[in-house]
Amino acid sequence: MNIAIITGASVGIGRATAEAFMADGYQVHNLSRRPCPAPGVHNLCCDLSSTASIDLACKSLEAAIVGARSVALVHNASQMLKDSAASCDSDALRRVLETNVVAINTLNQKLLPHLPRSSSVIYVGSTLSEKAVPGSFSYVVSKHAQLGMMRATCQDLMGSGLHTTLVCPGFTDTEMLRTHLGDDPGVERLFAEMNSFGRLIDPTEIAELIRWAHHNPVINGSVLHANLGQKES
Ligand SMILES: NC(=O)c1ccc[n+]([C@@H]2O[C@H](COP(=O)([O-])OP(=O)(O)OC[C@H]3O[C@@H](n4cnc5c(N)ncnc54)[C@H](OP(=O)(O)O)[C@@H]3O)[C@@H](O)[C@H]2O)c1
Repeated sequence: MNIAIITGASVGIGRATAEAFMADGYQVHNLSRRPCPAPGVHNLCCDLSSTASIDLACKSLEAAIVGARSVALVHNASQMLKDSAASCDSDALRRVLETNVVAINTLNQKLLPHLPRSSSVIYVGSTLSEKAVPGSFSYVVSKHAQLGMMRATCQDLMGSGLHTTLVCPGFTDTEMLRTHLGDDPGVERLFAEMNSFGRLIDPTEIAELIRWAHHNPVINGSVLHANLGQKES
């Protein structure tokens, strides 16, 4: 049995990734507060900002992994706030880091010892893992932290038979982006025009890259940008 464990598969990129692995015959487990609507997905209702909630989910996951041939552990869920270096208070920063960084660490601590060789740990970062824009302070901090986690994971798991990568989407048509953009079609057009193809990315395009990354250990330790070629301005 091959297994995919995906955080935040209730909507967006996570949901598309769940569907991609289901199509390959994987047993898929989703960790989010809302269920994944794709039929056949095992939903573990989990609030990633709570260590107790993650611990509970991991009890089921540890049992599910026993005897698995390969596991794709996909750290996809993230929170995005609008804030800045001058306006982000430390409690808000702590909350974002809890979901976007600490939860990943908790899942790794619980699950890595149980992953068989040929498994992968795939982090979903962002273009903002390697650059910053104004007005997304806590998100930029957490996405840079995910880059460090991926690189350290690669070094620490040398020889384990596991591989890791950071998939960095550009502007992808999901709930997160739509919340950030608001309802103005003019703003949507502006964002779409920031890449070479003049459109938003479909979540299935990122899901396909995640699926591919799981099957190709040659990319171990690398950053995979998936943004249709963003303008540098
Ligand atoms: N969309 C883009 O343009 C874009 C660009 C660059 C990077 N990314 C990255 O891609 C990944 C997926 O983003 P998306 O655009 O698909 O976002 P999305 O549509 O907003 O989905 C976010 C997912 O994260 C889950 N989540 C958030 N907080 C959670 C919590 N406390 N506990 C459990 N689950 C939680 C949500 O589940 P529930 O609400 O059901 O709990 C949801 O399934 C993120 O890491 C994001 O940073 C996206």
